Amino acid sequence: MSPGRIHRRREADGKLRAMDTVLITGGTGHLGRDLVSRLKGPYRIRVVARSAGSDPDVEWLRGDLATGEGIADALVGTQTLIHAATLSPAARRGYFVPKDLWTSPSEVDREGTSRLLDLAAAAGVGHILYVSIVGIDRPRVPYLRRKLEAEYLVRQGPIPWSIARATQFHWLLDRMFGKMARLPMVPLPDLQLESVDTTDFADYLVESVGQGPAGRLDDFGGPEVLTFSEAFDQWRHIRDGSVRTMRVPLPAAATNAAAAMSLSDPSSRHGTITWAEWLRTHTAE
Ligand SMILES: NC(=O)c1ccc[n+]([C@@H]2O[C@H](COP(=O)([O-])OP(=O)(O)OC[C@H]3O[C@@H](n4cnc5c(N)ncnc54)[C@H](OP(=O)(O)O)[C@@H]3O)[C@@H](O)[C@H]2O)c1
Repeated sequence: MSPGRIHRRREADGKLRAMDTVLITGGTGHLGRDLVSRLKGPYRIRVVARSAGSDPDVEWLRGDLATGEGIADALVGTQTLIHAATLSPAARRGYFVPKDLWTSPSEVDREGTSRLLDLAAAAGVGHILYVSIVGIDRPRVPYLRRKLEAEYLVRQGPIPWSIARATQFHWLLDRMFGKMARLPMVPLPDLQLESVDTTDFADYLVESVGQGPAGRLDDFGGPEVLTFSEAFDQWRHIRDGSVRTMRVPLPAAATNAAAAMSLSDPSSRHGTITWAEWLRTHTAE
């Protein structure tokens, strides 16, 4: 099919059709890998990342959202763009340091998204699906502000869009609990969590991507709400029974802020894989 025909068809409704090309930013990450494995086959899958993967059924292109290198080439012939790349220093580390509370890098989530949108518009992309986080309308953490800025750019941008927000992923909670367990005593704040598996969320995104641009999608949450203490007990039971814990009260403002980004609305869509099931089937990273 000629590029011209693809362009006309895309303009009709932005819906994805068999063997269309889907470009995934962040396709080497936790969610991205689950998206790639689900979308390859029905569609041509292209991943742009700083390091290439090895799956021969995927077109791996080297690119860096922070500099723009390789991004324009990756977008050529793309019908649908799933933007799942992000840069969260705290998630990479597995714990927060004081600096995370006043600053977070913007070169991937804000400038990178802006650059991506301009280049995607020039390439004639018909749909961008942006992956975001539940509760970021009231962001108190700078990283979440970067995500909200990116959402704004997508909404205001030239490409028909969808935005899907999820609660925190099981892998991140596991990484954070693993780091906390190194402390002599783990503090248990009075918080609630609703973590979700990336495979459940990936199934939801695949469904959405097939439907074309739909604006803000229903939020996606985990199958159960646990207190921090319950979640940590399950982790300790499966990963390391020797860890000692201690309850700590949190100021109400901190509890409310954390709840806003941890819990989905009851009307949201929900995954099926519980925290305990996930822990039993995954080794610690
Ligand atoms: N983790 C959570 O709890 C959670 C919850 C809700 C929503 N989300 C959202 O879901 C999406 C995926 O999250 P995840 O946890 O799967 O992320 P992740 O595992 O940390 O992966 C991040 C991805 O971003 C890519 N990336 C980082 N810097 C880049 C750059 N300069 N240029 C190009 N690519 C770059 C990484 O690729 P390379 O480093 O290989 O280049 C990697 O593929 C993100 O939008 C995140 O905000 C996450």
